[in-house]
Amino acid sequence: MIPFSKISITELEKKYIEESFINNRICGDGIFTKKCNKWFKDYCNIDNFLLTTSGTHSLELAALLAELKAGDEVLLPSYTFVSTADAILLRGAKPVFVDIDKRTFNIDANLLEEKITKKTKAIFIVHYAGIACDMDKILNIAKKYNLIVVEDAAHGVLAYYKDKPLGTLGDYGCYSFHETKNFVMGEGGAIVVKDNDKFQEAEIIREKGTNRSQFIRGQVDKYTWYEVGSSYLPSDILAALLYGQLSRSKEILQKRMLVWNNYNKRLEELEKEGKLIRPYIPDYAKHNAHMYYIVLPTEKIRDYLLQNLKNNGIEAVFHYIPLHTSPMGIKLGCKKGSLPVTEEYAYRLLRLPLFPDMSIDESNYICDKIFEILK
Ligand SMILES: Cc1ncc(COP(=O)(O)O)c(C=O)c1O
Repeated sequence: MIPFSKISITELEKKYIEESFINNRICGDGIFTKKCNKWFKDYCNIDNFLLTTSGTHSLELAALLAELKAGDEVLLPSYTFVSTADAILLRGAKPVFVDIDKRTFNIDANLLEEKITKKTKAIFIVHYAGIACDMDKILNIAKKYNLIVVEDAAHGVLAYYKDKPLGTLGDYGCYSFHETKNFVMGEGGAIVVKDNDKFQEAEIIREKGTNRSQFIRGQVDKYTWYEVGSSYLPSDILAALLYGQLSRSKEILQKRMLVWNNYNKRLEELEKEGKLIRPYIPDYAKHNAHMYYIVLPTEKIRDYLLQNLKNNGIEAVFHYIPLHTSPMGIKLGCKKGSLPVTEEYAYRLLRLPLFPDMSIDESNYICDKIFEILK
């Protein structure tokens, strides 16, 4: 069986985890959390970075910082993970789903303005597969209508829009380090906050509404309760695991890229024959080989290929079921047929196995099988 995803853990990660025990400081914001912060500062020039307990919690924190409330409307794609929409709903605001661009599966920036009303407060975008959204267009619209931009960059760690890391272009950027992502800590994430005052507020909310972070840094001699908060800081054991992954980021990215490029080269012929469509990378995007997907001519062919790959020991998988057609979407009053591109393309997409320690032989075997099955 070739699994869809497999973590790549070396002696380095194990050594750092052990060190976290020796440090005798396994709660949040310990030595390895600081090392992760410094890594993002040194390698990506990212300031105002906080590790969190998940990508989901980063989005919830962003929604709190954006002060979303009942009566506010928030634009987002329907083709995303539930957490993007949950963060909005948990604040009592209303998600307004926008169709996607069929080439990138990202929110279609050309459709944003027609969905904006007096109630619109924010846009939550998703950089699907680590391929950047059309940020200039999105940021111009946000500026024109005074909207907050939250980047769901769960897939987008170390991917870029022009020369800027994803997650650093909007007001808030949300990363995921879930075990299926490029760099893993089991469950975990991070938030990047553009505004310095909002960053201080983020530190407080993340620490149960207290200024404990300032206390730990020695800036105040006792800490106290400032506002409503929660606990969004991960254990330093998990930060140690992540720091090992970040230290190996070049190797991990290179290995993923080799597999991604091999798929892309091998499947070019099938695209020319009209049997499938390969991922589209706009000129402004530098992706991070987070995902390799193909788009089949119909749902029926997609399902046929999926089943036959499975029969050959290959775990290919589909992805999001459009949120607006889910039971929750229907409860929210969304209508089937309202987002035609999302509804068609979600059912034509198939993701192929991709993980750092996957061999070129394995990806060649998968391509051979795709050729055979689609014949
Ligand atoms: C687009 C998107 N946003 C958010 C999340 C949530 O991240 P996490 O699993 O770290 O909570 C995911 C998870 O896969 C995702 O794909």
